[in-house]
Amino acid sequence: MGASALSEKRVLLIVGGGIAAYKALELIRLLRKAGVGVRPILTAAGAQFVTPLSLSALAEDKVYSELFSLTDEAEMGHIELSRSADLVVVAPATADLMAKAANGLAGDLAATTLLATDKPVLMAPAMNVRMWEHAATQRNLATLRADGVVFVGPDEGAMACGEYGAGRMAEPPAIFAAIMAALGRGGPLEGKRAVITAGPTAEPIDPVRLITNRSSGKQGYAIAQALAALGADVTLVSGPTALAAPAGVRRVEVETACQMLAACESALPADIAVCVAAVADWRPQNLQGSKIKKGADGPPALGLVENPDILATLSKSNRRPKLVVGFAAETDDVEANAAAKLARKGCDWIVANDVGQGGTLGGDDNAVAIVTSEGIERWDRMAKGEVARRLAARIAQEFQ
Ligand code: C5P
Repeated sequence: MGASALSEKRVLLIVGGGIAAYKALELIRLLRKAGVGVRPILTAAGAQFVTPLSLSALAEDKVYSELFSLTDEAEMGHIELSRSADLVVVAPATADLMAKAANGLAGDLAATTLLATDKPVLMAPAMNVRMWEHAATQRNLATLRADGVVFVGPDEGAMACGEYGAGRMAEPPAIFAAIMAALGRGGPLEGKRAVITAGPTAEPIDPVRLITNRSSGKQGYAIAQALAALGADVTLVSGPTALAAPAGVRRVEVETACQMLAACESALPADIAVCVAAVADWRPQNLQGSKIKKGADGPPALGLVENPDILATLSKSNRRPKLVVGFAAETDDVEANAAAKLARKGCDWIVANDVGQGGTLGGDDNAVAIVTSEGIERWDRMAKGEVARRLAARIAQEFQ
């Protein structure tokens, strides 16, 4: 399995006719950014809301609409089309598309594709609240669920028609997350458990002050998501961040290094540990119960004690995961320091990044080198999501 495992994944996206169709454009953008291929099918009703050109430009693929189009059929027959992807997604899934799929109708390309496919199907319903609550739609929903269709949403809220209730299509990030989780099923890391630490820790000085750092958690969250996309069962132990938990990932939120270590230990046994968190090396010796007052004596002396090293503790644990990966943010002699860290911490790989080049901490991309007992592999600067996917693919390789 190569580094491009996820980019080889393909989604067949059926865009139905509803005002929420515009959100399909954002969904395509998110999928493409994650390296997932998208082949759109636009229904005649869908084409009243978004144009084939927008879909095709974002998906970088041809848009299919007609069942009996000679050119489309010559290029790729509808049966072949229905099996050309790893997952079929219907967003928006209108009441009409749900009814057709539940009853096995095949009068147009979208319905035929849903009947002919042998791939998993995910639907994001979008319709007026009365249509959603109608007994017929609820019957169709139960039938489709029994047939194995996975649903994301609908959400509750104000509707384009002026009413309020359930029926709004789930937001693109939620659909994206459900797709990534669905694509991971049956992946090379299926059945493997992974623990990932991410973000900063926050060590309280008193009830209002803390010692923390600039870690955003982006790299750790991306790794958690990439491992889940390959089928791993992921526990993400996260310090305080502004990020949403990736779908299909179990997030345990902590503040301090001691809490982070305890959460990691309770996630064991695991096959994989990736310690990405920027853990504070020290914490205030005595946590003050009330806010320290500014006084005539000048600033208080902050006594510090060392925090536990989570990476080293997991590496030396008698329940040690088979593969333990650490990160090293260095400013000088990056690779030499990383090699020394590998030995000192007892982990299997160190992912070294040069934080001295500016922007890695909190930024969107990263230039890393993978240091193992076998040597050093340098990767070009790339998006943190891409670093995560490559690392996940390399981890999957290790387990083959
Ligand atoms: O020693 P240093 O902080 O440079 O090591 C970085 C690596 O060790 C990272 O993988 C980080 O998540 C991990 N670490 C840890 N617990 C600490 C300090 C660092 O898990 N207390």
